Amino acid sequence: MNNLIIKISKILKYAACLSLLFSNVLSTDYSEGEKLYLSHGCYSCHGYNGTGRYPLANDISGIMTSEELFTMFLRLRADLNPVSPSNSMPNYSKNVINDSEAKQIYAYIKTFKDNPPKLEEITIFKEMLDNSNRKE
Ligand code: HEC
Repeated sequence: MNNLIIKISKILKYAACLSLLFSNVLSTDYSEGEKLYLSHGCYSCHGYNGTGRYPLANDISGIMTSEELFTMFLRLRADLNPVSPSNSMPNYSKNVINDSEAKQIYAYIKTFKDNPPKLEEITIFKEMLDNSNRKE
């Protein structure tokens, strides 16, 4: 009986540790950063998850090394008011995205993961590959 109580108390301790761990992970809320990322149109050039034409996912951007560098980059873009429509990164002044909003966008971008399946794992591509290697 004593053994059983010790075992149960051990299990409860582990459960408490695990729940602490997970509550930390789950309590990080990126929804504000997500809203800002969408409402400022970042997704139109960088994709919904940073895998657009100008990718940001998987921490590939040197600009994303620190919040300060990222915020500076948003502010210091030269092409404010381009004369003709432009694909280049717009300028986002303090009045458009303030420092705390920039931090939230930064944290949200940091969650982006680009994890596409391998070519061989996509059936139709696998068939194409096999066919291209086939000797008639
Ligand atoms: C009109 C298209 C466009 C929009 C909208 C846009 N970007 Fe960009 N972004 C670019 C381009 C193009 C680059 C490539 C580098 C450059 O222009 O200096 C870039 C580069 C970046 C980089 C640096 C990537 C690197 O190569 O290291 C970050 C970070 C970034 N953008 C974040 C954002 C965020 C956050 C928003 C929204 C607030 C945004 N961008 C909106 C076009 C855009």
